[in-house]
Order: sequence, then C-alpha cells, then structure tokens
Amino acid sequence: MKKEDISIVILAAGKGSRMKSPTPKVLHSISGKPMLYHIIKASLEISDDISVVVAHQKEKVIEEMSAYFENIHFVVQDEENFPGTGGAMMGVVPKNEKVLVLNGDMPLITSASLQGFLDTSSDVIMSIFDLKDPSGYGRVIIENEAVQYIVEQKDANETELKTTTVNAGIYAFSKSVIEKYTPLLSNDNAQEEYYLTDLIAMAKNDGLSISPLLVNEENFKGVNSKKDLSDSEEIMQTRIKTKWMNAGVIMQLPQTIYIEESVAFEGECKLENGVRLTGETLINNSHIKAHSVIEDSVVKNSDVGPLAHLRPASYIEDTHIGNFVEVKKSSLKGVKAGHLSYIGDAQVDEGTNIGAGTITCNYDGVKKYKTIIGKNVFIGSDSQLIAPITIKDDVMIAAGTTVTSGVVESGNLVLSRTKLRLVKDFYYKFFAKKQ
Ligand code: UD1
Ligand code: CA
Repeated sequence: MKKEDISIVILAAGKGSRMKSPTPKVLHSISGKPMLYHIIKASLEISDDISVVVAHQKEKVIEEMSAYFENIHFVVQDEENFPGTGGAMMGVVPKNEKVLVLNGDMPLITSASLQGFLDTSSDVIMSIFDLKDPSGYGRVIIENEAVQYIVEQKDANETELKTTTVNAGIYAFSKSVIEKYTPLLSNDNAQEEYYLTDLIAMAKNDGLSISPLLVNEENFKGVNSKKDLSDSEEIMQTRIKTKWMNAGVIMQLPQTIYIEESVAFEGECKLENGVRLTGETLINNSHIKAHSVIEDSVVKNSDVGPLAHLRPASYIEDTHIGNFVEVKKSSLKGVKAGHLSYIGDAQVDEGTNIGAGTITCNYDGVKKYKTIIGKNVFIGSDSQLIAPITIKDDVMIAAGTTVTSGVVESGNLVLSRTKLRLVKDFYYKFFAKKQ
C-alpha cells in the first residue's frame, strides 16, 4: 500500500490520570523523547496524513510536537461533551481510504509492526493479543472464530472478565466505517464515555468483515502508569543498544548503560558499565569509561572518565578526560585534563595540560565569561582562571595560582603565591599548650 492511500489518527487527548502526574501522559519521555514523538515518527514512515487528537493540555502537546514535526494535523476533541476514545474520533476527517487509529500511549510501535494493518481485504482490522493477566485492557469476545464485540474492563461481566484475549488498541478502518459509525456511538456505559471500541460491534452487526490481527505484545504495549513507563523504557533501551552493538559499538554490561535515541556513534567505540549518553551526542572512535555522563556533546578520538561529566555543547577531540572532570560548552582539542577539574565556556588548544583541581571561574554571579587557552600551556594543579581570560601559547602557570590578568602573553610563567613561612617547633608548642 502506498503512503498516499493511508491516513493515521493518533489519540492523544486523554488525561492519563493513572500516571498521577501534572505532565500530559503522551509527553512522558522514553529514551529522551516524548512517547507521542516515537509514535508520530513510526507513523510518518507509512503515511503522509497524520492527525493527532488533543484536548488535555493541548497547547503544551501541540507546542512540543510542532518542535519536532511539520505538517501534522492537530484535531481538538470536545472532551467535555464527548469524552472517550470514540469522542476523540468525532472531529477527525481522514483524507485517505485506509485509516489506522493508534493510541497515543504506545511508544514501542514500529512501522514494521503496522504492516499487518495495511491489508485491504476486510473493512476492519483490529489488534489483539493474549495475556496471562489481562487486567486494564478491553476484552475481545470471539465466538465461532469471529470477533463479536469488545467490552471494557469496567463494563465486563464475570465471564467476559475471564477472557484473556485483549484489545491492543490499534485499528485499521476503511474511511466509510469511521464516517458512518462514529456519529452513532453512545456513552451508555460504566464510564459514561464514547468508546471507539463500540464501532466493532456496530460494524459486525451490519455484516461487515472484522479481522483480528494477533500482534506481539512488546510492540503494542500501552503505558498507563509509571510502572508501565519504566517497562517500556527498558524495552526501548534494549532496542537502541542492540542496534548500536550490531553497528560495532562495544558495551560492557549493557543493561547498566543508558543511551537516548538521538545519540549516534561512528567508528569503533567502547562504553564501559554505567555510562549515560543523552541528547544530540556523537561519539566517534572513543572510549567512554565507567559511570561517565555525556549530554549533547561530540567526542572524537578521545577517552573520557571514569566518572566524568560532559555537559551540553562540549566538543572533545584527541583528548584525555580523566575522573571527576566536568566540562561545559567548551572545545578541547589535543588536551589532557586528567583529574578533578571544571572547564566551562572555554576553548583549549593542542598540547595543553590541565592540572588536577584547575577551575575556570566562568561566572561572576551575573554573567558568564569565556576562557581561551592556547597551545602547549602547562597549568599547574589547583589553579583558578578568572574569566574573561586569554592565555596565549607556551605559558606556564604555577600550581596554586589564581590568574586574574585578562591576557597572558606567550612565554610567561604565571605565579601567585604568598611567601612560604616555616615556624620552627610551632606544632609541639601549640599542642603541648592545649593538653
Ligand atoms: C483503550 C481501549 C481498550 C484497550 C486499550 C489498549 C477504549 C474505550 N478502550 O483503553 O479496549 O484494551 O486501550 O491499550 O478505547 N484518549 C483520547 N481522548 C479521550 C480518552 C482517551 O484521545 O477522551 C486517548 C488517550 O490519550 C490514549 C488513548 O486514547 O492515548 C487510549 O486511552 P486510554 O484511556 O489509555 O484507554 P485504555 O483505558 O487504555
Ligand atoms: Ca491505554
């Protein structure tokens, strides 16, 4: 089936009260992106006509999604008068013949897993799976090998509750089925909501063909609670890490590593246990050691950590970053920063050594300032560089120096120390007096 024959409707208007959160359910994030983002991304691989139904905190949902996608239609549900998944469909006008309806709380959907819904031989295709514990899901009642109806848990009788075949929440309708039956839905049920699932019985009673499609639970897992959110996160993480290991990334104890979907790798990279990589991070031919955190940064031909923190907009190339080093919005090329440093709003050039305990003092309480350090600079341990400051090539800064001068010219030794005093036998006298 071609993209122009398919429309997709994503239901994202619900409150999601079971999440117990001020954030709308579909904006809770999985691997760094809102759940709804993952669904729209998969949908765009098979259709150009995507409608997202919104209501609860609609401005926020529309604003966040518009930052990622253009050409998505937002349809506002009249949730007060027409609550429920059926109510959500009432304002939707699909363009194409085949209409896929997806719940907005299924972040693990893939375009491959939607292929089964593109068959054109029946009027309705609905997703089902079998669960040992079906609680929370609508039960699918099948008799004589044909789907009869779907009953929601809250409306089900004892026999219906025992059914382990459940509605996964994805449907493919022909456009005419939606147009004909959606206006006929009623809210005569336990929740006084308009249920999309009632379309199934209506279509069946009119003799239309309904095909159940057995789907894999993993791809169609709904997120209703924070426990579901963490279960789905785990599945998404396994997918992301498997993809990158197949592409050549070495991972030690991958179950302890977290990688967001926007992170990329090039060449051969090695990640030790406990590494966390987020945002638009790119790692190229580098070794990231245990428990390092890298956010929105680029690391090329370098080694980082253990226990290092690269904050957004850091660019690290041919560089050694050791333990307890924090870098923010800085570029380091051919640099060694082995221990215990803060490097913020800085630019550091080749051959420079940053001694243990060096701090760029980039903030005066009001504004942030830059630190520029040239080539082959030797910065002794426990130095403070008060920004704005430029240290030119071939400079030596003595340990313990606070560098306040705005520009240090090449060739200088910079040293600020009070004269060392030795007071003979002071220790013995001081403590003897106290005893
Ligand atoms: C729904 C199905 C249930 C199925 C389950 C699968 C109905 C009535 N029930 O139940 O049979 O087993 O999904 O996961 O459809 N939404 C709106 N507007 C609303 C209410 C909900 O857009 O007024 C959206 C929600 O944002 C959500 C989706 O529809 O993305 C599903 O709603 P939810 O409340 O999670 O339905 P379930 O109770 O899970
Ligand atoms: Ca749900």
